Amino acid sequence: MNKTLPELERPEFSEQEAVLLLEENYGLCCTLEELPGERDRNFLAQEHNGESYVLKISNSCETLEFLKVQNNALESAAMLLEKGRIPSVYPNKNGEPLSRVRSTNGSLHWLRLVPYVDGLSMAEYRPHTREFLLELGAMCGTVTKALHKIPLRTLDRRLLWEMHNVQDTLNEYLTWIKDKKIRNLVSRSLDLYKLTMEPLESKLRRGWIHNDFNDYNVLVLPKLAGTPDLGLIDFGDMTHSYLVAEPAVACAYAMLDKPDPLEAAVHLIRGFHQRFPLEENELEILFPMILMRLCLSITIGAFQQQNDPKNEYLGISQQHACELLERLHEVNPRFAHYLFREACNMEAFPSLPEFSKWQKKVAGSFHFILGEPLNTEKTTVLDLSAGSSFSAKSEGMSLEAQQEFLDTYLREKNAEIGVGKYLEARSFYAADEFVNDSLDGHEKRTIHLGIDICVPAGTVIYAPMKGVVHQIQDNKSELDYGPTVILKHQPEDGPVFYTLYGHLSRECLKQLKTGQIVSGGTALAKIGDSNENGGWLPHVHFQIILDLFDYDGNYPGVALPSRKKVWCSICPDPGLMLGLGSESTAEEIDSGQLLNRRRNVFGQSLSLSYQEPLIIVRGQGQSLIDSKGQFYLDCVNNVAHVGHSHPDIAKAQSNQAYVLNTNTRYLNPVNIEYAERLCGLFPEPLNTCFLVCSGSEANELALRIASTVSGQKDMIVLEEAYHGNTKANIEISPYKHNGPGGNGPPEWVHEIPMPYLYRGLHRDPDTAGKLYADEVLKICEKLFGQGKKPAAFICESMLGCGGHVPLPDGFLKQSYKHVRQYGGLCIADEVQVGFGRAGKYFWSFELQNVVPDIVTLGKPIGNGHPLGAVITTQKIAEKFANGMEYFNTFGGNQVSCSVGMAVLDIMENKGLQQNALETGSWLKEELEMLKNVFPLIGDVRGEGLFLGVELVLDPETREPAPLQADYLVERLKSRKILLSTEGPGHNVLKFKPPMVFNHSDAQNLLVDLQQVLRESPLQKNHKA
Ligand SMILES: Cc1ncc(COP(=O)(O)O)c(C=O)c1O
Repeated sequence: MNKTLPELERPEFSEQEAVLLLEENYGLCCTLEELPGERDRNFLAQEHNGESYVLKISNSCETLEFLKVQNNALESAAMLLEKGRIPSVYPNKNGEPLSRVRSTNGSLHWLRLVPYVDGLSMAEYRPHTREFLLELGAMCGTVTKALHKIPLRTLDRRLLWEMHNVQDTLNEYLTWIKDKKIRNLVSRSLDLYKLTMEPLESKLRRGWIHNDFNDYNVLVLPKLAGTPDLGLIDFGDMTHSYLVAEPAVACAYAMLDKPDPLEAAVHLIRGFHQRFPLEENELEILFPMILMRLCLSITIGAFQQQNDPKNEYLGISQQHACELLERLHEVNPRFAHYLFREACNMEAFPSLPEFSKWQKKVAGSFHFILGEPLNTEKTTVLDLSAGSSFSAKSEGMSLEAQQEFLDTYLREKNAEIGVGKYLEARSFYAADEFVNDSLDGHEKRTIHLGIDICVPAGTVIYAPMKGVVHQIQDNKSELDYGPTVILKHQPEDGPVFYTLYGHLSRECLKQLKTGQIVSGGTALAKIGDSNENGGWLPHVHFQIILDLFDYDGNYPGVALPSRKKVWCSICPDPGLMLGLGSESTAEEIDSGQLLNRRRNVFGQSLSLSYQEPLIIVRGQGQSLIDSKGQFYLDCVNNVAHVGHSHPDIAKAQSNQAYVLNTNTRYLNPVNIEYAERLCGLFPEPLNTCFLVCSGSEANELALRIASTVSGQKDMIVLEEAYHGNTKANIEISPYKHNGPGGNGPPEWVHEIPMPYLYRGLHRDPDTAGKLYADEVLKICEKLFGQGKKPAAFICESMLGCGGHVPLPDGFLKQSYKHVRQYGGLCIADEVQVGFGRAGKYFWSFELQNVVPDIVTLGKPIGNGHPLGAVITTQKIAEKFANGMEYFNTFGGNQVSCSVGMAVLDIMENKGLQQNALETGSWLKEELEMLKNVFPLIGDVRGEGLFLGVELVLDPETREPAPLQADYLVERLKSRKILLSTEGPGHNVLKFKPPMVFNHSDAQNLLVDLQQVLRESPLQKNHKA
């Protein structure tokens, strides 16, 4: 068989001929370049002034009637969409939109000129985020809205890609698919389509549609903030067909190469529905129609490739389409249907209202699952949510300890039965099977779809109503259900549904038989113990299921947060059947409400991170966990030094709180021991300490000490330095007093330029240290000239707010020499960079081989507990003791000291300084290698786990790239990695994670960082 399609014979026009046509018809003088095309002959035409057009020579089969419809569509769509993103037609010299032209072989064609729509094709553009797909759907909806009203003209035209002919086309061309497996999938898809379509066909709306929202026809202008601008080209496949075919086509292409194709479709459909509401019947056929478009693409592609093997354009999406078709055959079409309904704000499971009505009607007639009512004082509801102390305390425990913990909890509540809530977001589903690849990295299934009833192993479970044993299975993997029974219920006056009982004892596997009828109230099984139930504390997981899909003996008991609404429609609240009230359903935190409450109660100068703030409810190690139980890798919080919410810290704090927490006016061994240990970490003569409550307080006290001891007031500080939030600290912090809302420095504060090798005044590492120290000397000399001396020179040992800048060699040594020579004290602010963060040394001032007169400590010292310290010499402390008592109500209290001690213990026991050295050095090397690949990375610097990555628009000019930095931070956040920016140009990615950040965390960070660096908005240095 050698079949050709007339519409595939493209018009015969050379580039030279096209140049002439352009001149003759439009008076334009352009250079031309042929564009790929399937049916028409298109040229990109560029004028000398940079203006670009597309010259379109239609296939000879194209009728004037159809081209008029197309032009009408272009006009209508362009009116609804942003200017320039739809190519509406230019008139020719005669003011006509169309010109008639003849090819050298005599055939007649219509000629049109449209503007060139700029942008990357959607196939090339990345990332396809949720927002991008919503926008794509919205554009598709807008185009449908614009086009469907165009009057129907009867056209003698049949296109291969028309959905209303899909069954005939596929049947006709199916044999061209050589791969048997794919051919079989196409046949099966066709069967599904036929079956679904039959009752719906007459009910589907029809109208003109673009019909080719493919990933080469959608053009994207990348943007660093907000959703990118989208354009649409090629209206040549317009047809009068089912309106729902429009989003179906768009979905088929948007789903290509996605980790979870349905996720992409859902966002697109949501966006579409917002602009052009879809109807229930349309949603029912949508998934099979998506399959049909893929099948058309595969089938026609196979045929066309036979005829035109060299045409790459034809084959471009073949492979991907086959892969997607295979993947979509793993999806239950009903599940896709429910997802799509939810995306359009409909009840996901259409018969849920029917079930709910029935359940309410028979509510009092269910048998008790434990043989006795649950709504008594014997029952207490447990909070196992991600942010509960119950979860946080029990998660790291052995099963025995967990049991003991639960038993104690129940005893305290005078209860015997613990109930775990429906729809609770939990963080403890740790196995890989709970992780789903999504558009942005991964999402964990955390939403509990059943109710847990915690009672001892061996407790008998009774059937709540009559049912048939539908499935029995031992789901043996760790953290799975263990032995599980699913009953099927067919009430006379209600819909069919199922109930699931998980974590049972193994006996039931032998005792129950599939098909066996179980009457309500009869013993069904016993609760299993931890050895047989998947490794959990004994309990039964009870769940109602309205659609079992194709699951066989196992069924998801937890859902993705992004699919919560769908799943709770398929698996409704089992509380009613168990005789429990609303207390057994978890309430979700409403982020909008929380934000409003925060705005109403907190001062507005407190900032929130990220465009869409995160609701963080728990910390664990190097992770922060949000209210949906999702883990974020924290790369920026150097306060949680030994890891967030470290249990040893919590214990140290709690144990001491039981005993004593008071001020330093009594003799007590706890604060003395801590002060001794802390001072023991410093080189002599730094051996005397004042305990305070924060880094700010530490610097405030350091200032007082310096002024008292030197009898002077003037301070030397660094450009962009930050030392704390009190009035005096703001005065010595150029980062604040020179920033927004600041009033500049007071006359006693003198600033030197930031010793910044990459961007500063002096960039030669061999001489910079001395040259910057000379700036310190200049100020000392100036003061001397005025009859004054510096009270002190304060400097971070690596610069934090300045942009994670390590100091040039010799800078502190020489600066200290100058300051001391002029009678001032030298203060090292180690609030950010102390406690082993630099890796090589415990204190970062050691990197500079100096011993300061005063060192101030904060942040990591208490791992989040408010603690700070000033360390100085005995001599200085003596001079400070001039008769005025230094009293600090909370400084040196025993609870804080116990926490501080626990931090030091953990650091030592876990070798965290060594980890900072090894992990930090490795990460820095890897980042340096990325610098060679991505010109956006201008500089990589720092020590240990205190690194800075400076982003620049141009490695030569070093122009800062703050928008790119913001883009990266936002994108990494959506991939569940937390970073932030720093530096005067807001273009430095600052990296200072908890010290438990390990090699595998660093690897994950690098993978995601590279992925984002490759995204389209970062490819060119877009300035806006
Ligand atoms: C270098 C430096 N010093 C002092 C402080 C003040 O510490 P705190 O906010 O704990 O009072 C900060 C806080 O960011 C800091 O970065």
